[in-house]
Amino acid sequence: MSTEELPAGTASRRLRAESDAYVLKCMGDVDLALVEGQGVRVRDADGREYIDAISAEWVLNLGFRHPEVRQAILEQLDTIDYVSPVFESEARTALAKRLAELAPGRLQKVLYALSGGAAVEGAMHLAMRATGGSDFVCLDAAFHGRTFATIGLTYVHPGMVEGANQGLDRYLPRQMRVPTYNCYRCPLGLQRESCDLACADLVDFALGRGHLNGPAGFIVEPLQANGSMVPAPEGYLKRAHEICRSHDVPLIVDEVQGALCRCGPMYASERHGVEPEMIILGKALGGGLPLSATIAVPEYSELLPWEYGFTQAGNPVACAAALAMLEVMVRDDLPANSERMGALLMSRLEEIAEGSRLIGDVRGEGLMIGVELVRDRATKEEAWTETDQVMAACLDLGLMVGKSGPVWGSNGNVIKFKPAVNVTADEIDEMATIFGRALARVEAAA
Ligand SMILES: Cc1ncc(COP(=O)(O)O)c(C=O)c1O
Repeated sequence: MSTEELPAGTASRRLRAESDAYVLKCMGDVDLALVEGQGVRVRDADGREYIDAISAEWVLNLGFRHPEVRQAILEQLDTIDYVSPVFESEARTALAKRLAELAPGRLQKVLYALSGGAAVEGAMHLAMRATGGSDFVCLDAAFHGRTFATIGLTYVHPGMVEGANQGLDRYLPRQMRVPTYNCYRCPLGLQRESCDLACADLVDFALGRGHLNGPAGFIVEPLQANGSMVPAPEGYLKRAHEICRSHDVPLIVDEVQGALCRCGPMYASERHGVEPEMIILGKALGGGLPLSATIAVPEYSELLPWEYGFTQAGNPVACAAALAMLEVMVRDDLPANSERMGALLMSRLEEIAEGSRLIGDVRGEGLMIGVELVRDRATKEEAWTETDQVMAACLDLGLMVGKSGPVWGSNGNVIKFKPAVNVTADEIDEMATIFGRALARVEAAA
C-alpha cells in the first residue's frame, strides 16, 4: 500500500509524512501506524482493527500486552530499572538459570545481547575463541542479521540483491555458503526419498576444504525463516551435528525466530533431537522488549575480559518480562498449544490450497507456517506480484500476514503465518477464513 492509495487526511498518512521527515528507514515501507494492541488484535491510527497472524514481526509470542508480562515489567520497575553489566542482577541470573533449565543437553551459559544480529556475533566470538578458526559455514538463503559480521552470513549480498552491501567490503568477512536445504526446490535437483541428505554433506566438504583460516563452526536456522520458510528436513540437523563433531567445531543453531514455542517445543532444536553447542535467541525473548542471547555448552563459554558486551544487555526489566513469558509458556503448556494450533492452521491452509490455483506448497512446524505462491504448480514459477496482491487483500480484509524469500530481496512469494503461540482455535479459524477470502479475491481478479 503506498501513501497515494490512502484516503487523504488519514491519521496513518499524517504519521507517515511526519516520520519520513525524521526517521531514517531502511526496513520496509508500509503506511500503517499501529497504536493499540491486545492479544492477537491490533488497531491502527484510523481506528481499523486487524487480527495479527504474525505476532507483530514474530516478537510478541504471547500476543500484545499479555497481562502477566505487563505485570512483571511493572513490578521490576518498582524495584530497579537498570543494573550495569559489571554488577550482579537478580533478574539477569534468574532468566539465565531458567533458560538453561529449559534448554536441551548441556547448554548452560547465557551471553546476553540486545538484538538477534548481536547475539549471532556473540556466538561467533565464542566459536572463534574455542576453535582458533574464523571461517563459518552457512546456508546461501540464511538470514542471521544485518550487523557487519552477520551480513557475511546473510543472503542479502551483491550476488543476490544488486548493489547490496557494495563498498562495505572492508568490514564484511566472507563466509562459506553451501546450498540451503529446500525439499520443495531442491538446489541439487534431488528427491527427498532418495537424496540421503546430500545437502548436509556439503557442510562436511566446506568445513574440510572450503576455509582459509580454519573452520569455526556451522551456523544454521532450524527452519529457514526469511529465506522462504523452509523447515530443515528430518535428520538434517543431526547429520550436520555429526559432521561438526568430526571437524571439532560447534553446531550453532540460530533460533532467533524458531525458539520459544514458535516451532512447537520451547527450543526448535528439540524437535530435531539435537543438542547443539550453541543456540541463539532473540526477537520474542524479551516479551516485546529488546533482549537476545546465546546459550552455550561449557566448552564454548570462554571470552577474554571486555571483548564482547553491551551496556544495556541483560536489562532487568527485559529479563523480568522474559521470565514471566517463559513461566506462562511452561504453565499453560504452550509447546503443545503451538503443535495443536499449528496442525489446525496447516489443515485449514491445505484445504484452501485444494481449491486454489496459486498455492504451490504449504509447509511449517508448530506455528511457523509458510504458504508458497506459484503461477504454475509444474514449473513452480514464483508468483511475486500475486503475493503482494494477496498481502494487500489480507490487510484490506483485516488480517496481518508476513512475506518471505526466496532470497531475492523483498520480492517474496511465501506468505508467513506466525501467530501468538497462545492463539485459540477460533482465532486460527478467523485467520484462515480471511486468508481464504483474500486469496479468492486475487484469483478471481486475475
Ligand atoms: C534467524 C534470524 N537470525 C538473526 C536475525 C537478526 O535479528 P535482529 O534483527 O534482531 O538483529 C533475524 C532477523 O530477522 C533472524 O530472522
